[in-house]
Amino acid sequence: IFNKLSRAAKRTVTNLKPIIGNKSEFNKTLLNPNAPIGVFDSGIGGLNVLKRAAVKLPHEYFIYFGDNENAPYGNKSENELFVLAKNAVLKFTSRGVKAIVVACNTVSSSVFDELKSASPVPLIPTLPPIVKNKTKRTLLMCTPNTAKSDFVSKNYAFAQVLPLPFLAAEIERYLYSKDNLNTAAAKVGELNRLENINLDKDLRGAYGIYDIVVLGCTHYSFLKKEIAARFKSAKVISGEQKAVSDLKRTLTKLSLLRERGLKGGVEFIGNSAQKNERMFNFVQN
Ligand code: DGL
Repeated sequence: IFNKLSRAAKRTVTNLKPIIGNKSEFNKTLLNPNAPIGVFDSGIGGLNVLKRAAVKLPHEYFIYFGDNENAPYGNKSENELFVLAKNAVLKFTSRGVKAIVVACNTVSSSVFDELKSASPVPLIPTLPPIVKNKTKRTLLMCTPNTAKSDFVSKNYAFAQVLPLPFLAAEIERYLYSKDNLNTAAAKVGELNRLENINLDKDLRGAYGIYDIVVLGCTHYSFLKKEIAARFKSAKVISGEQKAVSDLKRTLTKLSLLRERGLKGGVEFIGNSAQKNERMFNFVQN
């Protein structure tokens, strides 16, 4: 049934008129090394990519867009996802970015190829890391859309894939809550990460013993310590760092790194800019 649905959704996606042209190759000569880099996600999850990118590429200027009003993306149709992601691309291209990081596993594993052909600048995906040793007992936690993607069927057939329909939305809604942000703890950089989030209930399908637990959604990295505490024998991994390395490699290959003398920065755009800026301070290492 999923395959049929996703074929139908793909047809609808193809029927959509691209808003920003259908170039399959960006025009490298138009890209300016000193231009900013766009980073986007359905909400606060992509901040986990942004933080690492800002550390690794301190001379770069980043613009972050969280589509918090439309979060979560994890249960949306491919058609909706494509339209939302394309709008994000459009926001960034109107700011003259030289590259865009899709800091969302859901978009990166589903409509990425269509998005790439509609983007005039390079796109860098964020995906669950490839586990080389398939004999490791592996759990992939991700959104329902990521779970049913071709990427996951191809690379995670050996693993237990656990689609979590609620966790990203809970993190999005409750981690950034007035109660949470007003506590004394928040003032010294600690949030009550599990207030109103019932991790045990979300993870009730994860009854095995695992060597590797993959956080296949950038929102989950906000709860990395809490998830790791539940899987004591496992190594907990996620795709943020690779996305950042891929970004650096792409910029280097295209001679698009900013001059080292320049000071970098981070700017937040969109209706939830303030929320995302505050949450940026709570990203765990
Ligand atoms: N943070 C996103 C991901 O990496 C999407 C979560 C959601 O909006 O459902 O999959």
